Amino acid sequence: MEILEINYINFRNLEDKNIHFSPRFNLFFGKNGQGKTSILEAIYFSATGKSFRTSKNVELIKYKKEKMGSYISYRDLISEKTLSVKMDKKNKEYNYNGKKIPLDQFYGKVNVVTFIPEDIELITGSPGFRRNFFDGEIAQSNYEYFKHLKDYTKVLKIRNKYLKEKKHKDEVFSIFEDEFIKLAAKIVLKRIDYVKNISIILNLNYRKLFDDKKELSLKYDSFIGEFKGLDLKALEERIRGKIKDLKNQEIRYGYSLVGPQRDDFKFILNEKEAKSYSSQGEKKSIIFSLKLSEIDMVIKERRESPIFLIDDISSYFDSIRKDNIIKYLKKREIQVFISSTTDLNIESKNFRIDKGEIQDGHYECK
Ligand SMILES: Nc1ncnc2c1ncn2[C@@H]1O[C@H](COP(=O)(O)OP(=O)(O)OP(=O)(O)O)[C@@H](O)[C@H]1O
Ligand SMILES: [Mg+2]
Repeated sequence: MEILEINYINFRNLEDKNIHFSPRFNLFFGKNGQGKTSILEAIYFSATGKSFRTSKNVELIKYKKEKMGSYISYRDLISEKTLSVKMDKKNKEYNYNGKKIPLDQFYGKVNVVTFIPEDIELITGSPGFRRNFFDGEIAQSNYEYFKHLKDYTKVLKIRNKYLKEKKHKDEVFSIFEDEFIKLAAKIVLKRIDYVKNISIILNLNYRKLFDDKKELSLKYDSFIGEFKGLDLKALEERIRGKIKDLKNQEIRYGYSLVGPQRDDFKFILNEKEAKSYSSQGEKKSIIFSLKLSEIDMVIKERRESPIFLIDDISSYFDSIRKDNIIKYLKKREIQVFISSTTDLNIESKNFRIDKGEIQDGHYECK
């Protein structure tokens, strides 16, 4: 997949602009606070309808302006297409080839993998942060999972409301409970499968790029306990059993104690949990390897490369690790957008950013 050009109006501090990209490396080069993260965010936003650093849409609209808009044209295996998003402080509109579409059809048309400084939270942050991340990853190339999550969230909300209001003896409650169990089992099964696949790739990538003497794995830590060999039916039965065991507690607390909203994911480096034992450098390397593995997973599911955004590469890694990364990316047929405050010595289309103004065609990163 390849983004051909972008057009944006009133996006953060960026001066309105139309930019054409290289199919390989695109480097945004500039000092702190000039708009490097903002241009990567604009690309991500145009492709996915969301930001990677905020859930508050209004933050994206340039100060003192009322509206914001962005547009990209891109090429996938089949043809050239366009996506655009228009937004004011109340409404947001998504378009595909000039036609208005809902978000759930918009999301996933272009696959994007990002590596940003905040990603370290995937190790150090809360289980909810990890769940959101992995759910998003699975959903971006699996529409069924996206729908199951959406439905599950609705049913969970209703179930919690009934528990809170002590209406668990209602007939409606048991109907919702059946639906709750079915959806929960589907989500768990997909997560099991995803973690199994990505964990193998993750280890390979980590060893190849960063440290071939260590073993890295991702473990799915589920509320259902040990899940080896369980199929969908067996999972449903297990969840039904868990509900039975915890029903009294659920009624007392007034919300669901069972379900994939209580799961977590753990990174294990040489048999130790990375969250508690790994160094800062190791954590960064684990997350970078995870992002490369995501790229491999998207290719596996979609038979097409996602685009890769790397924010602030210079502040992340020492020069040896940076060189390894660049060497690796050069070998891959993938479109990459990188921001940096220092030169990277790669053959790239370079853009200089100064106070939100982007100039292309500057091949000197000085
Ligand atoms: N909605 C907005 N309207 C106008 N300016 C904004 C808006 N949101 C953020 N800014 C400003 O845009 C500027 C550029 O921010 P950005 O995060 O893109 O910089 P950066 O080049 O990535 O910097 P760093 O190297 O420090 O990460 C900042 O000064 C920020 O305060
Ligand atoms: Mg930045």
